[in-house]
Amino acid sequence: MQERFGWINDAHLAHTARVLGMSQADLDGIATFFNLLFRKPVGKNVVMLCDSVSCYIMGAEQTRERLCKKLGVKMGETTPDGEFTVLPIVCLGHCDHAPAMLIGRDLFGPVRPEDIDGIIDEIRARKK
Ligand code: FES
Repeated sequence: MQERFGWINDAHLAHTARVLGMSQADLDGIATFFNLLFRKPVGKNVVMLCDSVSCYIMGAEQTRERLCKKLGVKMGETTPDGEFTVLPIVCLGHCDHAPAMLIGRDLFGPVRPEDIDGIIDEIRARKK
């Protein structure tokens, strides 16, 4: 459902629960447990910036500030054009390349503040 619609709304969840023969509540428990499943609308590109200890120590806060400034949003918000949603995430398992960032299926790191413009511009260019 998320691959097709970008996020999982209540109707998607109810339909999937019927197909799988599960209760909607059980399926919702799964959907809300995994932080890569979205139960609220998100932008076309979800930017997940790790805020766990290795990335924090290696400067994730400065990277986050640059990312939010570049996109003109705060953490948890979506750009007005619907292209990007910025979310924090726990360890991406890419600690040896901290600070780490995941956009869709692309894993980046180390992401320094000066890398942000190039990464975001490249992703925007892919859509044209
Ligand atoms: S702490 Fe950030 S990737 Fe592990």
